[in-house]
Amino acid sequence: MLSLGVNIDHIATLRQARYAASPEAYNVEPDLLAAAAASERAGASGITIHLRADRRHIQDRDVFRLRESITTKLNLEMGNTAEILDIALRVRPEEVCLVPENRAEITTEGGLDAAGQMRALAPTVERLHAVGIRVSLFIEPDARQIEAARQLGVAMVELHTGAFANATGAAQTDELRRLHHAAEHAHRFGLQVNAGHGINYTNIRKIRTLPHLAELNIGHSIIARALAVGLESAVAEMLAGMKGDA
Ligand code: PXP
Repeated sequence: MLSLGVNIDHIATLRQARYAASPEAYNVEPDLLAAAAASERAGASGITIHLRADRRHIQDRDVFRLRESITTKLNLEMGNTAEILDIALRVRPEEVCLVPENRAEITTEGGLDAAGQMRALAPTVERLHAVGIRVSLFIEPDARQIEAARQLGVAMVELHTGAFANATGAAQTDELRRLHHAAEHAHRFGLQVNAGHGINYTNIRKIRTLPHLAELNIGHSIIARALAVGLESAVAEMLAGMKGDA
């Protein structure tokens, strides 16, 4: 069954908007631990967070506290830097998703160039594997990147659905086809196929038609919907959409 990782970065963004300068910022509203627990109660199979080099939303302490509190699994998205790798090795999330990191972007804009960064990625993947962390690469739905994932020996890829989400009409159909081929390709190599970025309550109807999908990571749309209906209902509605019930 297709499972859902809820990305709660935006909840930290809201907290930081008010409390970034306060040392006690971790205990003030909105509470990330409560958000993670609500997502789990509603049926999420994991909690996803991105610890960025500039710490614009998730803070180091959040990562450690969530590690202690969540009962499903923690998926840590991270850029391939020594500093964040060191934290990941101490936190021991069940999963790490390696993503590109560009300080200027609001959120992750493009996939990781795994094919172009094999030499830098290989030792990181090895160190994460050595402590039992499953590794995913957030990549464009592109044959070269899937081949790189295979060569790096990771368990999973997360196909970047941003271009699909931003396209309309025939261009969107083309992007869906690219995702479809990439999912088939990755599956043939034995890679678990995940997807994320820009998935919402409308485009989920098309996303769910992709073959071999194991997990979606969704943040913005669920957190935005939660403002109207609460987080548990927002997660439950997305899960219904993933199943085809909505
Ligand atoms: N997957 C990855 C790797 C991401 O970096 C993000 C956030 O940009 C998401 C999924 C969730 O994207 P969204 O917030 O658009 O649902």
